[in-house]
Amino acid sequence: MKVYCTNNYEAMSRKAAAVMAAQIIAKPDCLLGLATGSTPIGLYQDLIAGCKQGDLDFSRVTTVNLDEYAGLPGTHDQSYRYFMDHNLFDHVNIDIANTNVPNGTAADPAQECERYEALLRKLGPADIQLLGMGRNGHIGFNEPGDAFIAPTHVVELTASTIDANARFFASRDEVPKKALTMGVGAIMRARRVLVVVSGEDKAQAVRDAFAGPITPQVPASILQLHPDVVLVGDKAALAGLLETGVKL
Ligand code: F6R
Repeated sequence: MKVYCTNNYEAMSRKAAAVMAAQIIAKPDCLLGLATGSTPIGLYQDLIAGCKQGDLDFSRVTTVNLDEYAGLPGTHDQSYRYFMDHNLFDHVNIDIANTNVPNGTAADPAQECERYEALLRKLGPADIQLLGMGRNGHIGFNEPGDAFIAPTHVVELTASTIDANARFFASRDEVPKKALTMGVGAIMRARRVLVVVSGEDKAQAVRDAFAGPITPQVPASILQLHPDVVLVGDKAALAGLLETGVKL
């Protein structure tokens, strides 16, 4: 694992964007695994700037997103499809037909998960999979549990995740209780995994994930078994991990 510690969120975003940009430049027809949430927004802004300056070309890039809320259409401003369109896709020269997010309004969510998993298999491993991390150690919507789940699946969100996401909705009651998420299988098949973390509220989860036991109670801990993880975090988020003596 490579760990990059930055002074603040802006520097974390620039560093992580540089890792993504290098991938797009090295392989213009790459498959990018993408994430939503507040952490990657700055990274996406930097990629947009790179595209506008003519340094980055998304015309041959394909993307697969990690997850989507069950029940929210892509037009809902809290859906992850809406997030991706507004925070990245609408501002770069990507072919929207080459962007993939699970369909939250599929009549049969389990069948949609099967379709999405088949699509992931067909497209092949992501060249780079971007991940944020929940305060409970979740990746995608792979919540703490008794077992790691490999394929794309429907998940019941934990109370802690619903609480964390309530800030984006008019009330906690409006937060969807289920989501469709890529499992740890496709995440672990990615050739490289780029994890971005910011803020002291992530420090314990980062330490547990990368310096604690590998356990489904901390889903991100499975990344210890991945051969090419790049962790980019600001010093607040990495504080707990750095205390363990991890090498930068
Ligand atoms: C988003 C996702 C989640 C977030 C995580 C962190 O697609 O899959 O795992 O990465 O909840 O969210 P933020 O960045 O908002 O702290």
